[in-house]
Parts: sequence; structure tokens; C-alpha cells
Amino acid sequence: MSASAHPLLDIIGNTPLLPLRRIAPALPPGVLLLGKAEHLNPSGSLKDRPARALILEAAASGRWRPGMALLDATSGNAGIAYAMVGAALGIPVTLCLPAGATPARRQMLSAFGARVLETPAEAGSEGARAEAARLAREEPWRWCLLDQYGADANWKAHRDGTGAEIWDQTRGTVTHLVAGVGTSGTLVGASRLLKGRKPSVRVTAVIPDRPDHGLPGLRHLPSVRAPAIWDPRAADAVAEVATVAGRTMATRLAQAEGLLVGPSTGAVVHAAVRLARGLHPGSVVVAVLADSGDRYLA
Ligand SMILES: Cc1ncc(COP(=O)(O)O)c(C=O)c1O
Repeated sequence: MSASAHPLLDIIGNTPLLPLRRIAPALPPGVLLLGKAEHLNPSGSLKDRPARALILEAAASGRWRPGMALLDATSGNAGIAYAMVGAALGIPVTLCLPAGATPARRQMLSAFGARVLETPAEAGSEGARAEAARLAREEPWRWCLLDQYGADANWKAHRDGTGAEIWDQTRGTVTHLVAGVGTSGTLVGASRLLKGRKPSVRVTAVIPDRPDHGLPGLRHLPSVRAPAIWDPRAADAVAEVATVAGRTMATRLAQAEGLLVGPSTGAVVHAAVRLARGLHPGSVVVAVLADSGDRYLA
């Protein structure tokens, strides 16, 4: 199976790079703030890139064979992206979710035909991951486990996609990258590409300011296990952002820029504006707009 296994897969990526002008009117002269509009990917988030890469790699390597289902534990954007790519390729997708995941998420997964296996709510997302691992261990002929936290295909999809596109779209003038950290695939992949081409590029990792946050998709790195693919050298700075700041900026992005994005994207842009305010003329700051805000409407 190749990258052009289905035309839908060809429209993943090549997202626009948009100027953000109205949300930060008082930037120093000559400082440009741009948003990489990953929320415009076909399933509505940057996870389309690693989902395509992980699934095509599983098929090409023979880890997935006809008759098997793809399996992972995620209630978030990765699940929606797996479900979409699986549907396009005719591969069944099963996702382990803690009971109590928001109905909108479950409905979106079911709408793409994915199967949802509920795990006990009190065991949380770790419980869902443990259940997916158990199934794959006990019935290996039945399940192909996708591991976005540990697979190199994740960060490579962002190196060759997100990072390379930012380089081309700014014609190499990018000076700063700001991205959230969940699995860290986006930040690690794009950082490796950009720093490889221009070592002076400065990269800011955005994380929630506390463990019990409301910024879906982002990890509070000080209190949780770091993803296997995380590389601290990929980030020059870490910006901690409060949930309320992320939500406020997401509202402003929708109302002042016409960009309906989620609260975690709001947090990334909040950090990017804070950074841009202190930069010199000629600075070009790129913030990654991770997902669409439609999935957070009640
Ligand atoms: C909603 C959402 N999911 C995930 C991520 C992070 O992606 P990754 O898993 O590549 O670190 C972000 C980053 O801003 C995000 O906003």
C-alpha cells in the first residue's frame, strides 16, 4: 500500500500558512506571526499526518495483514484520524476509550465506522492503553497495535510534512516555531527539519501549567511519563499556559481571525504572541494550529 492508496490520503498536509494580524495588533514592527493551519486537514487535526504514516507503515511492513484490525487507545484527534484513514483504506479500526469520554467524540468515531471498546472510567487513559496492549499481546493475529507515542513514523511524518512545508512556505525565513506537546511528534519532527536547515531557529514547546488541565491533546510533562519519541534537545524553551488563557485565545482566533480552533491551539497561540512581543524586526514566528474547534462545541 502506498501513500496514494486512496486519493483522500493525498489531501492530508500541504496546509496553508496564514498571517495572524488581528489577535496581536501591537507586535513590534517587522515581527511576523503566522499560523500553520493544521486544523484544515480532512479529519480536522494535525493527527492526519501520523495516522496516515503509521497505518501505511503497518501495512507495508506486514505488521497489519488482511483480516486484522488496527487498535489503539485514544479518545482524541488521533482516534478520529485513524478512523478516517482506516475507513478510506477499508481497514477496520478499534479504539479503547475510558467510559465517560465525551459523547461527541464517541459519535465522531462511530460515524467513521470505528469500533469503540469501553474501559473502566476510573482507570483513565492509562487503563485504556493497558487494555489495548493486553488485547494485542493475547490475540496478536487479530490486532495490529498502533503506538503514536513510540513510533518513529509519527515524528518523521511531521519532519517531512509539517516542518518541510513551513520551511518552503516561509522560504527559509522562519526564525521561531511554537507547538504544543502531546506525543511530541509535531514538535520533534518539525524542529529536527528546521534546525537541520537553519540551526538558529528557536523552538518553544507549549505545555499546560498544571496536571489537572483542560487543554486536550497536551501533556503536563513535569508530572507524567515523557513519550518515548520525546527529545528535549528539540525544544529551546518550554512555555506553560493556563487553560483559561488557551480558551480565551481560541475564542479570539475564531472571532477576530475566522479560525475555529480548539483550546490547546489557543494555548499555543497565546505563547506565540507572548514570545513575539519581545522579538526583533525580521523575526518570523510560526505557531502550529493543531485542531478544529468544532469538536469542542457542547
Ligand atoms: C489538540 C492537540 N492535540 C495534539 C497536539 C500535539 O501533538 P503531538 O502529539 O504531535 O505532540 C496539540 C498541540 O498543540 C494539540 O493542540
